[in-house]
Amino acid sequence: MAKAVDVAEGKTGVAQPAQPSTHFERATFLMCSPEWYDVGYVINPWMAGNLHRPTRDQAFAEWRGLYAALQEIADVKLLHPREGAPDMTFVAHGAVVNFGVAALASFAHAERQPEEEHLRQWLQDAGFVVWETPRETAFEGEGDALFSPDAQRIWAAHGARTCRYSHRHVADAWHAPVTSLHLVDPRFYHLDTCFAPLSGGHCVYFPGAFDAGSLEEIAGAYAPEMRIEASEAEAAHFACNLINAGEHVVMHETGVGRRENSVAWKLRARGYRVKEVPLGEFLRGGGAAKSLALRLSDVTVTHRAAGKR
Ligand code: ARG
Repeated sequence: MAKAVDVAEGKTGVAQPAQPSTHFERATFLMCSPEWYDVGYVINPWMAGNLHRPTRDQAFAEWRGLYAALQEIADVKLLHPREGAPDMTFVAHGAVVNFGVAALASFAHAERQPEEEHLRQWLQDAGFVVWETPRETAFEGEGDALFSPDAQRIWAAHGARTCRYSHRHVADAWHAPVTSLHLVDPRFYHLDTCFAPLSGGHCVYFPGAFDAGSLEEIAGAYAPEMRIEASEAEAAHFACNLINAGEHVVMHETGVGRRENSVAWKLRARGYRVKEVPLGEFLRGGGAAKSLALRLSDVTVTHRAAGKR
């Protein structure tokens, strides 16, 4: 009885767990180890011909290389991998996060839908406000929606996975204006395979992935000298699928990175510090560096704080 009174008066003496903060001072990402990673079905053109070809040891070694590289420039949190969710290691497609709000994916394919519940739980436990997206209008997180570094707009794609009608709904989570881009090449089925807005006001992109109207939108936002074009060969090695935090870039080792006019070379020429890590086992599944890490820190913090220790 006495206890009930105390509870009513808030005097139980039991410390309430503090609400975890979703504001990070440093660039912070979420990764999920490839414990159960495999190419067990085909939902993008890269997976065809690669069924069950990734080897666990090799995938783990590569993922650890990326994890170590990212830890050099950012804080990295981990999501527990789950059996039966072989693409869960591509955690960037599970949500878009900014300012404490996480817009959760509604995956287009049933094969990836089991990932949603695990990420929803993690985000809620971490203190994020989860913004649900309707099943009827597929939305694939950072795969298809990327904030500009100043957080003033969202670039969102449709045409392969994400439904155009989800764009408005996602933008409403932050009351941010959205620019819709149309993807036209099935190999570049997510925006993060062909477009990356960068901290320094540049973007990396593969023009062949977009329709004419989308190219106009990109040209309207980025002056010619700010646009870094990936060749088709480099884009096919996921050169656009890069992680950027401040002046740092982490990307797949395409094999041409030291050559003049490669994406990595052009980035270095503009002052970015580029680290290339081999991620070939993940290319078999249709993803690379960017797909393997979900940004948790505010986009403005991520692009400002270079994460120097
Ligand atoms: N197998 C995954 C899928 O098709 C790979 C995702 C990688 N995506 C990317 N944006 N690169 O959903």
